[in-house]
Amino acid sequence: MKGIVLAGGTGSRLFPLTKVTNKHLLPVGNKPMIYHPIEKMIEVGIEEILIVTGTDHMGDVVTLLGSGKDFGCKFTYKVQDEAGGIAQALGLAENFASDEQVLVILGDNIFKQSLENAVSNYPGTGAQILIQRVHDPQRYGVAELDGDRVISIEEKPESPKSNYAVTGIYFYDSKVFECIKTLKPSGRGELEITDVNNLYISQGEMVSSILEGWWTDAGTPESYKHANKLVLGE
Ligand code: G1P
Repeated sequence: MKGIVLAGGTGSRLFPLTKVTNKHLLPVGNKPMIYHPIEKMIEVGIEEILIVTGTDHMGDVVTLLGSGKDFGCKFTYKVQDEAGGIAQALGLAENFASDEQVLVILGDNIFKQSLENAVSNYPGTGAQILIQRVHDPQRYGVAELDGDRVISIEEKPESPKSNYAVTGIYFYDSKVFECIKTLKPSGRGELEITDVNNLYISQGEMVSSILEGWWTDAGTPESYKHANKLVLGE
């Protein structure tokens, strides 16, 4: 299995912290934000990791991470020319993945639990999402559940059908790249990862697991502060 960290976007919700740098380079606890998802991948034995980011700060990202020698892994880098959504960024990883399964983590997702159980729970074909109960589901992709089965996902719904947010931690087989090629931009002009996940659900190829332990994204001023508190409280 290979790893993909998606670290693009403009970080506009964190402006002016992101005026001169990329969101994923900001500190969370005592390390740059992007170290957190990378360390989770290394912890489960992933050796090849692709970092996708925009043109503006790719240089700084490479300066920070280098070849991977200091982390005990191998980094590959891919430029996302303009912010076109999470699924578009993932589409850039097709050659890198070269038919292997991938673990994809959004670069601003910070969490406690090791992904060891999730890796063993992933059947190896199809997709797996990790979900967690939250108090503000409107901010996320929200899973509609039938028992413990996810029957659909809605992106940032006004009236969420559950309190289960879909975290930015995803497992896919190589079919994901064909699936991305069929997507149309959403209302916000992006290729949505939620559309990818709904396609897997409609084909009966999605499993979900609950992510135990704390989890947050760090893309808004409140969640960025919260992420720092959680990490420093460890
Ligand atoms: C993205 C996804 C959303 C997911 C969230 C997790 O939202 O679109 O489905 O719940 O990441 O962090 P965004 O960060 O683009 O608002």
